[in-house]
Amino acid sequence: MPEPDAALESTWWRSAVIYQVYIRSFADGDGDGIGDVAGLRSRLDHLADLGVDALWINPWYPSPLADAGYDVSDYRAIEPRFGTLDEAEALIREAHERGLKVILDIVPNHTSSQHAWFQEALAAGPGSAARARYVFRDSGEEPPNDWQAMFGGRAWTRVPDGEWYLHLFDPEQPDVNWENPEVRADFEETLRFWFDRGVDGFRIDVANSLIKEEGLPDVGTKGHHDPGPHPHWDRDEVHDVYRSWRALADTYDPPRVFVAEAWVPEADRFARYLRPDELHTAFNFDFLKAPWRAPALRESVERTLREHALVGAPATWVLSNHDVARHVSRLARDPEADIGTSLDSLLGEPADLELGLRRARAAALLILALPGGAYVYQGDELGLPEVEDLPEAVLDDPTWRRSGHTERGRDGCRVPIPWSGDAPPFGFGPGSGQPWLPQPDWFVRFTADREDKDPDSMLNLYRTALRVRRNEPALGDGPLTWLDVPPGALGFVRDPGFAVLVNVDAEPFALPEGAEVALTSSPLTDEGLLPRNTTAWLRV
Ligand code: NOJ
Repeated sequence: MPEPDAALESTWWRSAVIYQVYIRSFADGDGDGIGDVAGLRSRLDHLADLGVDALWINPWYPSPLADAGYDVSDYRAIEPRFGTLDEAEALIREAHERGLKVILDIVPNHTSSQHAWFQEALAAGPGSAARARYVFRDSGEEPPNDWQAMFGGRAWTRVPDGEWYLHLFDPEQPDVNWENPEVRADFEETLRFWFDRGVDGFRIDVANSLIKEEGLPDVGTKGHHDPGPHPHWDRDEVHDVYRSWRALADTYDPPRVFVAEAWVPEADRFARYLRPDELHTAFNFDFLKAPWRAPALRESVERTLREHALVGAPATWVLSNHDVARHVSRLARDPEADIGTSLDSLLGEPADLELGLRRARAAALLILALPGGAYVYQGDELGLPEVEDLPEAVLDDPTWRRSGHTERGRDGCRVPIPWSGDAPPFGFGPGSGQPWLPQPDWFVRFTADREDKDPDSMLNLYRTALRVRRNEPALGDGPLTWLDVPPGALGFVRDPGFAVLVNVDAEPFALPEGAEVALTSSPLTDEGLLPRNTTAWLRV
């Protein structure tokens, strides 16, 4: 293997394509219906062949799985249903052998209620040092304030001795107290634990939470994404935490990296997380929510690039993840429909999946050519649609329970991956044992094996695109110049010598004279025009 270039090695994250492994649903090695480390190890070649640079693994730590692993009971071990620490270390090694970096998920806002600290806090009682690791208050019969939990209901639960504890998510996810130095030191110990095992970075769960306003004042009518100060989102003091984490990550060779999950609406506030002494990158959810319309897409790209330019950080591009309805199904809808990130409001409404797939192909080539890094959520590369009709009896997302069965939640994008064969479990695990969420029969069309053999499949589109991207100096981090294109289209140049045209909903139009087609998301028309819902990569 050639010696890695030291400069490239320390800036790989500026252009990286990162594959999100939702481990519970990726591949099952032991046949219990739950994805695991063994399954992931057995499928590493799929990721290497795909051509991504890194994988991000959703939480794999011991957890009661009340919120699919975002309720961690021990940050320095592996959930037994997923495997062992030895297997995790082997996975990290095997990924590295294939040139793939490994990013884990750290959940600093809350632990599981089964975490030893919380159990100790319950036992130790009011006023104890153990309670001071969480946010306990004695406010009598009424909760300390009006804060609401993200999954529904109030954000406070009362324990038998009368104190209330804060949980911005599920009651099984008590918020930790970031004013407590012991908490800070312990999370840094966790970072070190995994960095020492070769992990290349962390995705930070709800990175804009952690710090709560002193006195815990009411939120009042302020909405989650309203601009201006909020008592529990995006407090200024949270940046001290990340400065300290960055300093720690920089002591490693090569330096370890962070990606923030931070739904922060104001551009300048968002950019603060990406200052040179803080986090490296953050997920860009603005683009994910933009409707499939050329002006909206362009505005979102411009806004994104502008806000990142404030601090010199590279942008990231995301189409789907484990919290939002899969984009093939979102794009199968009328772009004017206000979909947001869930399809709840559209369930039962007509969807044109062929159109969704076609747009998803165009969207993939769009994001893979924009400046910065990109994420591929497992199944994106297969064009997997949302499973919109999971039986209510199998729904597992706390959103479903906590909303009083009014919101179905996020299970539809978490259905186990179809790998091969003609019937469930589609090679997800050995034998015929069924996975933890049922796969529909129509998954047969999306198996990795079948797509592997079809030159026109989504899988082969992603493989080709990632190969071109890897060899193309113009792609990844760097500037972009917009081109004049017909209304309803987008066009930009990436220097040196690469142009991208996206016909969103314009009349078919001609490619620039002399341009060489490197790749298109769907065929050109017989006249050589770029049809609607199609992206072309050109050498100019
Ligand atoms: C964001 C994660 O992506 C989501 O799945 C989880 O429910 C919340 N954070 C709470 O940890």
